[in-house]
Amino acid sequence: LLPPNSRINKNGNSHAAPADAKQPRTFRIYRYDPDGGENPRIDSYEVDMASCGPMVLDALLKIKNEVDPTLSFRRSCREGICGSCAMNIDGVNTLACTKACSDVSATDVRIYPLPHMPVVKDLIPDLTQFYAQYAAVKPWLTTRTPAPPDSERLQSKEDQEKIDRPSACILCACCSTSCPSYWWNSDRYLGPAALLAEIGR
Ligand code: FES
Repeated sequence: LLPPNSRINKNGNSHAAPADAKQPRTFRIYRYDPDGGENPRIDSYEVDMASCGPMVLDALLKIKNEVDPTLSFRRSCREGICGSCAMNIDGVNTLACTKACSDVSATDVRIYPLPHMPVVKDLIPDLTQFYAQYAAVKPWLTTRTPAPPDSERLQSKEDQEKIDRPSACILCACCSTSCPSYWWNSDRYLGPAALLAEIGR
């Protein structure tokens, strides 16, 4: 089920920066717990950027570690490889670990989960269908001939180049969840991420 975002409470909890903060900046973050029975809300957190790393993920980790451990989001590699920290920052789907806070021109940094997806909690979307659609296109190489009995199956440079681009996809779901056709017809339309994998087969 999609969260009831039409009933979002824009004035949730506020967390002020420490009194000695040198460079406070406000992060307005979507909060929602489907099991709690309450509507989504936007909580505000003032972060002292003078003692925070440069990326949006650094700010989220600082908030979680020092202010509010209930804030939930996915992350793993912190360098744009795993795709798990995908979210909507300043109105654009992107990776929190590669998005610099200084690149957000708005005064406040607005952070929402990937749009039009069910929410597990806060910034964590339910990607069950997204992964099922990816699996449905069988995104792996299949052979048409038996393997040589006494050697590896060698691949030409040209054949490898055919799959270089599709295989570079990190499955962050940023593209599919920014696609209006996917928003409205995701039960019938596989979306760009799965179709890219299909092209690469
Ligand atoms: Fe892996 Fe951001 S944490 S892509």
